[in-house]
Amino acid sequence: MRDEGPPGEEDADGPCIGVRVPAKINLFLAVRGRAPDGYHDLVTILQTISVYDRLRVGVYGPPGRGHHPAARRRMRIELRQEPRSGLPTGEDNLAVKAARTLGGLRGVIDPNGEQRSPSKAEPRTVLDLEKTIPLTAGLAGGSADAAGALVALNELWGCELSTAELREVAMELGSDVPFCVSGGTALATGRGTTLAPVLCGGTFHWVVCESDDPLPTGEVYRVWDDVCEPTDAEPQAVLVALREGDPWALAHALHNELEPAALALRPDLGEGKKVLADAGALGAMVAGSGPTLVALARDAPDAERLREEVGGWFPRVHVGTSPAGGPRLRPC
Ligand code: C5P
Repeated sequence: MRDEGPPGEEDADGPCIGVRVPAKINLFLAVRGRAPDGYHDLVTILQTISVYDRLRVGVYGPPGRGHHPAARRRMRIELRQEPRSGLPTGEDNLAVKAARTLGGLRGVIDPNGEQRSPSKAEPRTVLDLEKTIPLTAGLAGGSADAAGALVALNELWGCELSTAELREVAMELGSDVPFCVSGGTALATGRGTTLAPVLCGGTFHWVVCESDDPLPTGEVYRVWDDVCEPTDAEPQAVLVALREGDPWALAHALHNELEPAALALRPDLGEGKKVLADAGALGAMVAGSGPTLVALARDAPDAERLREEVGGWFPRVHVGTSPAGGPRLRPC
């Protein structure tokens, strides 16, 4: 069952591309202060983790007629997704915004064009989204979908933007979107959008513990303003642990200055951290702005053991590895 009534598979007459996009975690996050625009100045180390959303993008339209450029510029962007409460639809969805921004920029579509009611006589681009990354959870799920849309539509529409240019477009969409365009491991500064690659010499094994109640990022930053102070903490210990691929050193170095604000809003997350520590996790922390908790395991069997042990405490627990690369394109 789909929650919108877009075209069926049978009327696809254009190309179609699939993309798999990973979630992200912050291994280090220090808040240097609040900038005049209200955003916070960060030093953070971001890494992708193997919890993925999948997106398929395709051009649909009148079979066999091709697409006149004028008709193409009026092209609708449609989103299909499994019904799931809380997932933004239509223009509020970040992947749709990404599509409109890229399409408008490259003249593929008219960004201010009138939104027409669906018609089989007009071409349209359909984004088919299959979500696994939990929503509003501190794992950049919405940002990953937006990055996936940019990377896949850049191919589908033949925009020919470089990765650096895609990251520029991504900055308008959200602080985590530029990182999600290329993934891997990066040191980010400023709003979180100025990126430098970081060497990672190993694979790390995690359990990812979901929460049923979302925690909006802006709210966590507002509480940070009330209860926290800027610091000058440096990410050196995390950089060394990553280079050496040492999970014990990484567990010791994990650092998230949004955590006190998330815990102030959600004291139950403190209990969750204790459950993970008691189960023998090397380290556990709030993922980004939360409310997801991530816990570092020794190796893959240890991660499975941890998942079994804490499974009753959280609504859903995944195992994952990091780093998980970036968006990966595949034919439909
Ligand atoms: O950039 P993005 O839309 O993902 O950010 C969501 C919210 O998080 C912002 O509206 C802002 O309140 C907060 N934020 C911040 N400083 C950052 C990143 C995000 O204050 N560096």
